[in-house]
Amino acid sequence: MAPKVFRLVYAGFKSAQPEKMVEYYRDIQGMNVTEEVDGATFLSFGFDHHNVGIYPADTKGLQNIAYQVDPEVGLDNLQKDIEEFGISVERKALPGIEEALVFNDPSGVEIHLFTDIEQPATGFTWSGLEIYKLGHIALRVQNFDDTMKFYTEVLGFYQTDKIGEHFANFITCNYEHHVINFIAAEPEQATQLHHIAYQIKDSSHHTKAADWLFKHDYDTIWGPQRHTAGSNIAAYHLDPDEHVVELYADIDVYIPELNMMEPREWHQELPYRPKMWEGLSAWGTEYDFDLGGYVDEK
Ligand SMILES: [Fe+2]
Repeated sequence: MAPKVFRLVYAGFKSAQPEKMVEYYRDIQGMNVTEEVDGATFLSFGFDHHNVGIYPADTKGLQNIAYQVDPEVGLDNLQKDIEEFGISVERKALPGIEEALVFNDPSGVEIHLFTDIEQPATGFTWSGLEIYKLGHIALRVQNFDDTMKFYTEVLGFYQTDKIGEHFANFITCNYEHHVINFIAAEPEQATQLHHIAYQIKDSSHHTKAADWLFKHDYDTIWGPQRHTAGSNIAAYHLDPDEHVVELYADIDVYIPELNMMEPREWHQELPYRPKMWEGLSAWGTEYDFDLGGYVDEK
């Protein structure tokens, strides 16, 4: 089954300090504010109506995640499939979107699915981190098995790699190694953002990005280093709400027809097919804290 969605488009954050989050995404990342609706601010990397939404709230955390639906599948068919899985779905107009399916996935995350989003092409900026796009989101999830089943069997995501059995499960709806990474939560842990990843131009851009962040009092907390699963060169920092933000380049290209990654000289085995990895870092530069620790402290 081909994936029924083909692109991760945006993520929304609730925040008790929305002005600081907007300032970070506008001035540090370099996004354009495209619209403000009912106190929420929507920002674009340069093409879509928005790739990040900031919603004022009493707490902080992930508010929603959105994917674009294959027009040949259509919203009617997809709604039926989701409802057959036992999830109730609403249809709504949303900022920049005429009609979307809105529901909570089995982990409890609010998901928006649509075939069309306004693309005002606001233009990429030449300041800040100069991000190309929202690349992937890692989540620690309740109902891990049902969540994996929903994404792979209902939405048709491909599973690429794993690190351990439940630590990290990488899935994709397009040619990129992963657009989502699910980590199984312990029974007492809530579903929560683990990290959110944005694509920078290339790995040489990491230096400029780290200098820019440091200049504005954002320390790089890990990296740059090459990951095992996905081979991305990744560096991490914290946004004003202390969400872990990854900047990456060079992520693996997945070829579903061949069930393998496009070959690269740094691959440890050829062909590199979806597999289970034991560690996070290909260079032996394992970090001495669990990134999930930032999640647990909240
Ligand atoms: Fe990541």
